[in-house]
Amino acid sequence: MTNFIMNMPITQELVEKKYHLYHSRINNALKACFEKELPETLYAPARYILEGNGKRIRPFLTLLASEAVSGFSETALNVALAVEILHNFTLIHDDIMDQAELRHNRPTVHKQWNINSAILTGDMMIAYAYELALKASTTRHAELIHILNHANITICEGQALDMELEEKQDATIADYLDMISKKTGRLISASLEAGGVAGNATDEQLQNLVMFGEKIGRAFQIQDDYLDIMAVNGKSGKMAGGDIINGKKTYLLLRSLELTTGADHDLLHSVIINKGISADKVSEVKTVYERYGILEETAALINSDTEEALSAIDNLPHAEGREYLKGFANILMKRDF
Ligand code: IPE
Ligand code: IPE
Ligand code: MG
Ligand code: MG
Ligand code: MG
Repeated sequence: MTNFIMNMPITQELVEKKYHLYHSRINNALKACFEKELPETLYAPARYILEGNGKRIRPFLTLLASEAVSGFSETALNVALAVEILHNFTLIHDDIMDQAELRHNRPTVHKQWNINSAILTGDMMIAYAYELALKASTTRHAELIHILNHANITICEGQALDMELEEKQDATIADYLDMISKKTGRLISASLEAGGVAGNATDEQLQNLVMFGEKIGRAFQIQDDYLDIMAVNGKSGKMAGGDIINGKKTYLLLRSLELTTGADHDLLHSVIINKGISADKVSEVKTVYERYGILEETAALINSDTEEALSAIDNLPHAEGREYLKGFANILMKRDF
């Protein structure tokens, strides 16, 4: 990157360094959460999901958002933890809904314990997250709670749309984009918005942060779909090809349905009709994606979303935090993890 802050360019290396530093700061703070021992089947699953290899993207964005508007992020730590705990609650419940067996290369919570424990732990984590937000040193708690509530409700809408889309034979890319902006985009934009509030941002600054979050959030879920089938050597920590096996309507599947004909189209159409495909057919679908340039198109979409995200925050006042946000968006765009 060519931006110079205090005569120092914010290189990708510097962004990665800060990410690793904050990642361990966040993990250390998360270790102090859910220390209560009993009931074991309630608290142990919460500790287990948080001990997994989560990327901590959302809390990192919260801290950077605070820095971009105020120059500091110390007062945003509890907000960052709240966002990450809320996110992990959604993962536990999402894995039940998706009947997923693996997360972070380990059995999912409902496999390690059972569905009822997974539901209850998730419920408890929501309340815990709100308590942390209320502990943030700001006078703007009502705004924080409103943002978390709005995110929470929107995720539920997105997950409901995701389920409805599974049943819908004629789902469009527009349906898909609306669904992902809700199930994934809103929590990412809320992480930034809440970080902005913790840093005492103005309304206009919050709007910029939300716009940035919506754009990178969309790119992030499209990349998640991409990695679901393309990640090498189990790097996603989830079952490879899980989305196709379960008949999920991803960008890759919907776009390739538009482009293919003949036997290729029939193969993809069978994923829709049969609501999934056997695991041994995943590589055939992957080959079709490769042959029709779906992967390049996906990368181009992620690229253009990221470009739009970058320009949304040009006016944030603190250059260092702002350039770290931009640098991190660029890293996410190219992530293989
Ligand atoms: C997974 O989110 C759920 C999606 C919205 C795609 P992440 O990929 O950020 O999950 P962790 O926290 O790193 O496990
Ligand atoms: C994630 O969507 C949405 C939420 C967790 C709310 P996915 O179902 O694609 O997420 P992964 O791939 O299981 O992490
Ligand atoms: Mg899932
Ligand atoms: Mg899901
Ligand atoms: Mg996924």
